[in-house]
Amino acid sequence: MFKKAWEGRFSEETDKFVEEFTESVSFDKRLAIYDIIQNKAHAKALYKAGVLKEEEFKNIFKALEEIERDIKEGKINWKKEYEDVHMNIEAELINRIGKAGGKIHTARSRNDQVATDVKLYIKENIKEIKDLLRRLRIELIKKAEKYVDVVMPSYTHLQKAQPIRVSLYFLSFREAFLYDSLRFSNAYVVSDSMPLGSGAVSGIDFPIDRYLTADELNFSKITRNSMYATSDRDFILDFLYACAVTGMHLSRLAEDLIIWASEEFSFINLPDRLCTGSSIMPQKKNPDVLELVRGKTGRLYGNLLNLMTVLKGLPSAYNRDLQEDKEPLFDSSDTLKSSIFAVIKIIEGMEINEERVSKEAGNLLLITDVANYLVGKGIPFREAHAIAGNIAMYVIKEHKRLEELSLEEFKNFSPAFSEDIFEILSPQKVADRRTSFGGTSKESILNYIEIAKREEGISP
Ligand code: ARG
Repeated sequence: MFKKAWEGRFSEETDKFVEEFTESVSFDKRLAIYDIIQNKAHAKALYKAGVLKEEEFKNIFKALEEIERDIKEGKINWKKEYEDVHMNIEAELINRIGKAGGKIHTARSRNDQVATDVKLYIKENIKEIKDLLRRLRIELIKKAEKYVDVVMPSYTHLQKAQPIRVSLYFLSFREAFLYDSLRFSNAYVVSDSMPLGSGAVSGIDFPIDRYLTADELNFSKITRNSMYATSDRDFILDFLYACAVTGMHLSRLAEDLIIWASEEFSFINLPDRLCTGSSIMPQKKNPDVLELVRGKTGRLYGNLLNLMTVLKGLPSAYNRDLQEDKEPLFDSSDTLKSSIFAVIKIIEGMEINEERVSKEAGNLLLITDVANYLVGKGIPFREAHAIAGNIAMYVIKEHKRLEELSLEEFKNFSPAFSEDIFEILSPQKVADRRTSFGGTSKESILNYIEIAKREEGISP
């Protein structure tokens, strides 16, 4: 029967409270599959190094595969007395094949083992998150294409600004999620070096080829300093930061859509299947999914700050504080994945109220272009801005719409106005004047969509 790994040095049993307080298996069992993969690679390395005889290696490898199957089928009885996932798996191995199983921990410490497991976990999760982000970006591109001819108001300071194509809005988030993906790629690079072979702090004294194990475990590099490798958790910070920034973008998108779904705005319609009702007010259809996406961003920030605080002030090298890295890590990954998925569903299912947004995109949102029109007639921009400002004041006072003013009315503000002013006075036309790269003209938008599709690897 497997007892405590360190019992040789101790004269009494561990206090039950201490067992509860120090255990991590209740949450790090999520690393079990990665720990098995790592154990298998390590067993091969030990065999190659002559530490395991062929018979021993075969027994260990076979038992690890059985344990792997049992893990997947939920058949392992994880024990807090064995502290963490690593010791539990070692105990399983010893229980199944006897004392020879204990040879697996040769040339290894849990310090390099746990860092390796966490990196494997992060690399896998980054792949999943990047895949979800790509799906979200593709949904945004689809919506941008669908509504390419619809113009809506843009806001700055949450005050009406200038007309934009609905597409510009969707694509602005496509751009944000593309940079988020890049942040995850950066986090991947720093998670892609294998700590195994660093031992507890100073390296190992067995002739193990670390490069071979790294290859086996799909790491492109190996860590280069055993002390750094066993205490480094900065790669988790990079991951948590990427999660936090992505969460911030999701939250801002959610906030826009929540406002736009209000009766006052009525810019969008969210499908009933993605909304919830009220237990008391029968008329309600609430955007709770989006509110939760917004709310969950708090955890993503909190998890980053949590680990930053754990790491601050640790003496070199491994300290048990580092065990506190896992819960924030798992929580951020789970939270972010479900939030991205929720937003994919919302974007896919939402509809723009075309008539309403078009109607709101005219009037004083066109006034910048009246100023620019005057600039075209040779008036300095500052002066043109003041004239257009006077026109805006007039429109507000007289309860008129800019599009309805007569040429006489325009001429009252400046003799430079002529009949051609009416050629620009529509949201569509104003939008189409923004032909700069990245602007809101149809030409610029279609150009961007083509580039975006190429970047996502989807056919035009
Ligand atoms: N459960 C531990 C952790 O997550 C594994 C490493 C323990 N190492 C040690 N020397 N006690 O950090």
